[in-house]
Amino acid sequence: MTGPLILGLESSCDETGVGIVRGHELLANEVASSVEEHVRFGGVVPEVASRAHLEAMVPTLERACAAADVDLSELDGIAVTAGPGLMGALVVGLASAKALALALDKPLYGVNHLAGHVAVDLLDHGPLPQPCIALLVSGGHTSLLRVEDMARSITELGSTIDDAAGEAYDKVARVLGLPYPGGPVIDRAATGDPRAITFPRGLTAGKDQERHRFNFSFSGVKTAVARWVETRQRDGEDVPLADVAASFQEAVCDVLSAKAVDACLATDTPALLIGGGVAANRRLRALLEDRTAAHGIELRTPRPALCTDNGAMIAVLGSAVVSAGGRPSSLDIGADSSLPV
Ligand code: KG4
Ligand code: ZN
Repeated sequence: MTGPLILGLESSCDETGVGIVRGHELLANEVASSVEEHVRFGGVVPEVASRAHLEAMVPTLERACAAADVDLSELDGIAVTAGPGLMGALVVGLASAKALALALDKPLYGVNHLAGHVAVDLLDHGPLPQPCIALLVSGGHTSLLRVEDMARSITELGSTIDDAAGEAYDKVARVLGLPYPGGPVIDRAATGDPRAITFPRGLTAGKDQERHRFNFSFSGVKTAVARWVETRQRDGEDVPLADVAASFQEAVCDVLSAKAVDACLATDTPALLIGGGVAANRRLRALLEDRTAAHGIELRTPRPALCTDNGAMIAVLGSAVVSAGGRPSSLDIGADSSLPV
């Protein structure tokens, strides 16, 4: 295998990720998550996440170098997430990458986290079909992107106007008395009838759909589930968990899959890629498989471990930037919590 040997550091949320790739070949992908420390708060606490990154960065880097059997002196470059994400968390990754770049005299590449979610599928399924549409769904972001060239040209078609999809899962889990993070728990609990309760599908009808064709809204469905549960409890009735979870999940995944396929059709784009923690969802994957097949759209789904935040996605994006002749970043590059793609 050929291509540049790139180290990737990721620290935008609660995962400290260190990946090493050579070209499109994955050599190491070590992740330390602080998720357990956030459980009792029901969501990521930025200050706690930043401290955890500080503690985890060096041991995770050492594990990645050992797994890849690579010495840092052999690297061709260091890629790091410059944004978007939590400011204090991003700063830890950037400071670490700058220190390594300076000490080792290697070029530094500050890259976009969302573009990393797009690039990572290369490691599983080879070169991306370009152009493609990317549906990125996690606890922090929900976006539809049109990817002309992942290293140089990505356009955001739309995004959530309120909660991210994963955030809605996490909040609904709380309402149902289920632990954080709620996505995988609701995915498993959703064994009931998805048509038992009709929860709202945000921005899919009338003027909303016209104005927000590629945008999402999940605060309505979250509130509807909370009201529904409150009413049942007030009336002293049981809450049928399996049905509520399945019906909520159906509302979210129906909208995500319909809008993603609509984006492919509207922009005449024959391939769809998914990424982010919610992309691990089984119902979302099943709906996307059916709906893309119905329109002859190629569906690219990275394995779940590459869908969630990790360093390999940053490393492989860095490798693509280097291969495309991208210029290194200056050592005074700053973190940007709302960096656009
Ligand atoms: O990408 P990720 O690990 O971190 C960021 O938020 O950036 O995504 C975590 C989110 C959480 O909100 C979690 O509840 C959700 O992804 N999630 C899922 C599933 N697995 C994780 N949501 C639905 N179904 C799942 N199977
Ligand atoms: Zn992410």
